[in-house]
Amino acid sequence: MASAWIDLLDGIKRRLENQGLGGRVGFGADLVALGQLSPRTTAETGRPLPVQRHWPAAGAGDELGRWIAEIGQDLGTAWRQNPNYRAAPPSTGFLDNYGYLECAGPEAPYCTPHLRLGLLLLGPRTLYPQHHHPAEEIYLPLGPGRWWKDGEGWQARVAGDVIHHPPMCGHATESGDAPLAAIYLWRGEIARAAEIG
Ligand SMILES: [Fe+2]
Repeated sequence: MASAWIDLLDGIKRRLENQGLGGRVGFGADLVALGQLSPRTTAETGRPLPVQRHWPAAGAGDELGRWIAEIGQDLGTAWRQNPNYRAAPPSTGFLDNYGYLECAGPEAPYCTPHLRLGLLLLGPRTLYPQHHHPAEEIYLPLGPGRWWKDGEGWQARVAGDVIHHPPMCGHATESGDAPLAAIYLWRGEIARAAEIG
């Protein structure tokens, strides 16, 4: 399992380098720091989220997805939903088709107050509408989907791409006929959850 964590971090680093982002965003040093952490096993046994019916099939075609599945299974990491969305779902059925599995972060097995690393999962034909947050973010999609970013509009993205969101930059994601899984990394002001708008 420890090797799955290191394999995952190395795989993310390679994708950043392949996209020419290795030295242009600050996440390279963060990946080194994450590699120093040892996991703690969490005792979370919450009820599964409905969106989990799409996992791990949604990530099975990508090596990063397979490593995340191994890490999540071994650590018992609980799936979560943004409390802002639970309080006010952005659309009917959204909460049945949205959730994330956080591997590193203040509450996660790889415990750190500085970063978040996890997996976003959307069910098929699901729009995660425009939202923003003060943390800087990168996404690594594990399959095809459509991604919107303020100033750039909608773009088709595939596994191997890296999507960068500066702090407070509005962005959105939409899955196609298949579920969409994407690894995310947050740095900077990570305590404040994303808000719609
Ligand atoms: Fe985001």
